[in-house]
Amino acid sequence: HNTLRLPARAQWWAQPASVAALQALVQDPAWQGLPRTVIGGGSNLVLEGTLPGLVIQPQLRGIRVEQDDGSGLHVTVGAGEDWDHLVAYTVAQGWSGLENLSLIPGTVGAAPVQNIGAYGVELCERLVSLEAVDLRTGTLQSFDNAACHFGYRDSYFKREAPGRFAIVSVRLALRRQAEPVLHYADLAARFAALPSAQQNAAGVRELVCALRRSKLPDPAQLPNAGSFFKNPLVSAARFDALQAEYPGVPGHRQADGSVKLAAGWLIEQAGWKGRALGAVGMHDRQALVLVNHGGADGAAVRRLAAQVAADVMARFGVGLEQEPIALGQVLSPDAVSTPA
Ligand code: EPU
Repeated sequence: HNTLRLPARAQWWAQPASVAALQALVQDPAWQGLPRTVIGGGSNLVLEGTLPGLVIQPQLRGIRVEQDDGSGLHVTVGAGEDWDHLVAYTVAQGWSGLENLSLIPGTVGAAPVQNIGAYGVELCERLVSLEAVDLRTGTLQSFDNAACHFGYRDSYFKREAPGRFAIVSVRLALRRQAEPVLHYADLAARFAALPSAQQNAAGVRELVCALRRSKLPDPAQLPNAGSFFKNPLVSAARFDALQAEYPGVPGHRQADGSVKLAAGWLIEQAGWKGRALGAVGMHDRQALVLVNHGGADGAAVRRLAAQVAADVMARFGVGLEQEPIALGQVLSPDAVSTPA
């Protein structure tokens, strides 16, 4: 149940297949007083040891068109649907909006937690609202987009209320007309070279899939959790100083004047691209992706993450923040924390 393929145990495990079953489970007196953890596809997790109490993996399915005015539509999707299956389905219908988010592993319910994003689109730009069950009471609650407090790889559910809600469905706004988002230079160039009949959502999806396959390892072949660190934000002054010392340093200016650095570049420069520590390493085609070469556990992941972050800090004075969520009780004596 985790794409980094780390060994871990759930004390109790449940896969409710309806909202009512999930609510009944949460309200059942037999489970009162126990911690509750929700997991989706396990593609953004670092697991270790035991997850105490009840671990819930919602199996809620369904893709429903709710509202369609001829040019745009809303679809409501069950949390247990596979994210990329949803993207493929919408693109096959000729709908656009999700194609830049092709091939991201994981479930629909997990997507808002870390506000998945790729190739110039973040989920928060498409999400209308979501429904979630409060794991303390079993009540079903609605969150509009603003209530989700979305940020870069961040949300209310990840930062402010971790572990408190199980997202059960997500409502997305899509378009019937192709409206390609081509901010990403590599994607724009490849799109321009497509025959005009393919310059649509399906064309973008194919290009995004090809781009991802060229650098991101398939978790089924080489276990990983995607980008292991967030791209760090630094002040404009800090970026200018870095650039003076390292003229090649990539950076993206943000609306507020800060600059987003490429963590993959920092890690590569620090000498970690394609390098391993024990059973884990940083990928040889994308240094931001931590991979399990076989037989690793959560402690090995923590050791490498701490070492990489320390080396980047020593070299560039920039802190790296881990992106995947760490779960499980960790009691090993050699525990090393990752600098935030
Ligand atoms: N780079 C290097 N060496 C590397 C990797 C990257 O120098 O080994 C530099 C290059 O300059 C490159 C730049 O970093 O141009 C950006 O690399 P890339 O386009 O691969 O994107 P990223 O910033 O590393 C982010 C997301 C990905 C998403 C891609 C594409 C985060 C943490 N990661 O990666 O999301 O697919 O952009 O939009 O924001 C994920 O979150 O799991 C994930 C895969």
